[in-house]
Amino acid sequence: MSDPIVELRSVSKWYESDPDRRVLDAIDLKVSEGERFAIVGPSGCGKSTLLNILGTLDSPSEGSVIVGGQAISDCDEKTVAALRSREIGFIFQLHHLLPQCTALENVLVPTLASPDKVDPSQAADRARQLLERVGLGDKLQSRPSQLSGGERQRVAVVRALINRPRLLLADEPTGALDETNAAKLVDLLIELNESADENLALVMVTHDLSLAKRLGKVRSLRDGKFAD
Ligand SMILES: Nc1ncnc2c1ncn2[C@@H]1O[C@H](COP(=O)(O)OP(=O)(O)O)[C@@H](O)[C@H]1O
Ligand SMILES: [Mg+2]
Repeated sequence: MSDPIVELRSVSKWYESDPDRRVLDAIDLKVSEGERFAIVGPSGCGKSTLLNILGTLDSPSEGSVIVGGQAISDCDEKTVAALRSREIGFIFQLHHLLPQCTALENVLVPTLASPDKVDPSQAADRARQLLERVGLGDKLQSRPSQLSGGERQRVAVVRALINRPRLLLADEPTGALDETNAAKLVDLLIELNESADENLALVMVTHDLSLAKRLGKVRSLRDGKFAD
């Protein structure tokens, strides 16, 4: 087995506004290459906090976060940002696409900030291929306002994958979609996880247990700990 992509060791989190409440309480978690699971739990139980810490967008109050074998607390902000943009892609409930840019341009945004030199024409080729793969081959030049909710979320998925991350973190990615489009989006995430050429690990947070179960493995978060 190779090293986990991300590992949490005894991670706890509390906020200054309520220091007596441990939102996360000594969580241990490993995400290995190519694996997938869902994290479920009621609203406010700490799912987003956990995902943000996994993705190095937030830091724990206690415990350590190890990405690609490196403890985040030993790295400066620039190194963490570089690790994050190389290893991790994010999708959120709201797509956060730039309204003035086309689908293709939106997908290419993360390549502009990528610390590794990306060949712009190669990046554009990959963007086109991925957009075709998710059924948006004829929408490359469409702006977000010209796309349906499901299509916008698929653009956001492709944008998250453009830098070939090893891990995709999805926080309530179906929260703004109807049931049919929600199921379709989860099927797409599963297909990407299963495709050998991407070798992508997938962690999806949701409060919808039936969607979570589609991923096959479900971890339940309750009172700051995993219940299973
Ligand atoms: N920046 C913050 N400051 C203070 N409390 C916060 C902050 N972010 C989240 N919380 C609290 O932490 C708890 C967990 O929040 P969150 O991780 O967003 O839950 P979930 O994603 O499961 O709905 C909630 O009680 C929330 O109010
Ligand atoms: Mg949340």
